[in-house]
Amino acid sequence: MKIAMIGSGYVGLVSGACLADFGHEVTCVDKDMAKIEALRKGIMPIFEPGLAELVLKNMREGRLSFTNDLKPCVGDADAVFIAVGTPSRRGDGHADLTYVYEASREIAACLTRFTVIVTKSTVPVGTGDEVEKIISATNPQAEFAVVSNPEFLREGAAIKDFKHPDRIVIGLEDERAREIMTEIYRPLYLNQAPIQFTGRRTSELIKYAANAFLATKITFINEIADLCEKVGANVKDVARGIGLDNRIGGKFLNAGPGYGGSCFPKDTTALVKTANDYGAPLRIIETVVAINDARKLRMAQKIIKACGGSVKDKVIAILGLAFKPNTDDMRDAPSITIIESLKKAGAHVRAYDPESIEQAKLVLNDIIYAGNAYSCAQNADALVIVTEWEEFRALDIGRIVAALKSPIIVDLRNIYRPEDMAKKGVQYTSLGR
Ligand code: UGA
Repeated sequence: MKIAMIGSGYVGLVSGACLADFGHEVTCVDKDMAKIEALRKGIMPIFEPGLAELVLKNMREGRLSFTNDLKPCVGDADAVFIAVGTPSRRGDGHADLTYVYEASREIAACLTRFTVIVTKSTVPVGTGDEVEKIISATNPQAEFAVVSNPEFLREGAAIKDFKHPDRIVIGLEDERAREIMTEIYRPLYLNQAPIQFTGRRTSELIKYAANAFLATKITFINEIADLCEKVGANVKDVARGIGLDNRIGGKFLNAGPGYGGSCFPKDTTALVKTANDYGAPLRIIETVVAINDARKLRMAQKIIKACGGSVKDKVIAILGLAFKPNTDDMRDAPSITIIESLKKAGAHVRAYDPESIEQAKLVLNDIIYAGNAYSCAQNADALVIVTEWEEFRALDIGRIVAALKSPIIVDLRNIYRPEDMAKKGVQYTSLGR
């Protein structure tokens, strides 16, 4: 199949490279010429494990190319994927569909034969209908079908998620489109990945409902962690105890500083807006959003408490800035709120992250960056683990304690055991234990 991927950001690039690896002929398009030139040289705009290798391999083998000119590849494509950004619209939290509609107009003008237009960007219910209208209005002769095919990629594990998905959701209303989509995903079908064909609006909603449910699961365990602290229970054991029930499942039950990233915060807010617009409010998700926002601030209070009630003029060492490990993504990272609150309370912040320091510099001012965990801890009044990078899981705690001014460690990801920390003389604070 010939595929054009409009948008070479996170989703477009991973999807394009994986589809090329399945044997399809993929052209990734982006307006940012500097990005395209870098990609042609094998330089990735984002950090994602395995992505550079996959892109280079498929470029070498002639199945993957990059361009800023959408006309030839769209005209020649069996399917055109729209994978442009849908950021939160400033002011009201709705998904901003400007880029999706702009791409639709540009695609419409280039269509030469029956083509499937696939929205891969996360778009509110009804966007497919709008895309259809725009294409028909721009090019009344165009033969096309609009399909919804949401992505369920986790940053840091995106290639694995694409190649071994729990399911593929395809929303469409057109038989020819169904044949083309089946052909595109045949390699996964052979791997026995379930493909769910459904209506287009249903597919659009599945994406938001999935993210909102996962955000709810995380928020649920975060509140249970708070209760554990009050009643003297252990949240890790509670999570295991409930997660072994197949109806609940053990994943996404790790208590933490609140969910962040480019998806959950934006998608939960957008879903709440959609629900209100349609007069069917989602009270649970509204509450989840509010609890999660408040939680990030509460984490700063927890750190201040662990430091004896004040961080004024103290140096706080922060390990991990990205919203989760294996990414350099700082979007809505809990570290931002936590660091800003600590600074407001008079702390000096020193931070280390294996990948996201360059991104962090764009959003955080007045902090000092360290080159590793130990130099970050040097002479600090307390150490806080915000992101559970692999390299923070087996720190030489003796060395950390020796480096710190006082042996205070706040572990917002529960990666250490309280009894081990006590043995090493650490004043250890974690979540729900
Ligand atoms: C999420 C979904 O997991 C993907 O399925 C979806 O495709 C993607 O959004 C998207 O809509 O594009 P992602 O944002 O990359 O993926 O990251 P997650 O691994 O889901 O983590 C999100 C946040 O939840 C992180 O801040 C993480 O630290 C937090 N989290 C996750 C917890 O606090 N506890 C957990 O048990 C799991």
